[in-house]
Amino acid sequence: VENQSSSALAVLFCLTLVTDMAVHLLSKVSVRAGDSITIPCLYDSKYRNHVKYLCKGYYWSSCSYTVKTNQPYSSGKFSISDDKTQRIFPVTVKDLMDKDTDYWCAVEINRGDDIRKYFHLSVTRGKPSLYVDHQEMTGFNGDSITISCKYTTAGEIKWCRLGRNCVTGSSGSIDGTTVSINSSVPNVFTVTMSGLTTQSSGWYLCVKGDFQMPVHVTVTEKPTTIDVRNPIISLSLLIFIAMVALFIWFMLRKHSKSVLFFNKSKSYHVILSIYS
Ligand SMILES: *[C@@H]1O[C@H](CO)[C@@H](O)[C@H](O)[C@H]1NC(C)=O
Repeated sequence: VENQSSSALAVLFCLTLVTDMAVHLLSKVSVRAGDSITIPCLYDSKYRNHVKYLCKGYYWSSCSYTVKTNQPYSSGKFSISDDKTQRIFPVTVKDLMDKDTDYWCAVEINRGDDIRKYFHLSVTRGKPSLYVDHQEMTGFNGDSITISCKYTTAGEIKWCRLGRNCVTGSSGSIDGTTVSINSSVPNVFTVTMSGLTTQSSGWYLCVKGDFQMPVHVTVTEKPTTIDVRNPIISLSLLIFIAMVALFIWFMLRKHSKSVLFFNKSKSYHVILSIYS
């Protein structure tokens, strides 16, 4: 009975950790030495106003602070921000060295142990196991975007929204956006998200086997274009162009006049400039 209850307790404890600090999808990221990486750390809404930080080291008991949200500019190598609406604090590590591999995303708790989640950066000399050319992608509302996730490792392919669901196989949907995955070309899978809405903005993960690669998607409103088929718009456009042309002509005429008189008399030139 004691054994059973202790294992039940262990399960309960694991679940609490996941809901408390669900970075559960992000644990291992491959990066080339010398590059920079941004890792999004997800937290529960109850910690919205808590201080967040990145701790460096394999063991939690001996890890050292790098950056904290209440003192974000303390270092050039590390940076941190806090997106309280998405409940994500992204941490950036620049110019990665071979020894910069072990980290903890952490949330400060005033009375009690800080909430934390470990992640590993696998620093490579050659091609990373899973990588993207750009971690930051932008798209327009209603349009689609395509992300190329390149890999050199084996394992299952997935496209996930951080802290939400994943798409496996060739198609699916995440938060109302249609996702299709094309893995017909070796060493790369392309993810197309179509029907983007502003709600699609956020952090996603390319997943291949044990590795994850975070990608940030920003969806903006489409810039309004002028419809020249509208008669009122085309007429005002015509008047505007005519006015600009007239102005340019006037300026050119004035300029050539001044130059013309310049050689003859300096004083005359000044008078002309003032009165013309
Ligand atoms: C996947 O991509 C390849 C290469 O770009 C293309 O030839 C193929 O038609 C695509 N497959 C689908 C299902 O879109």
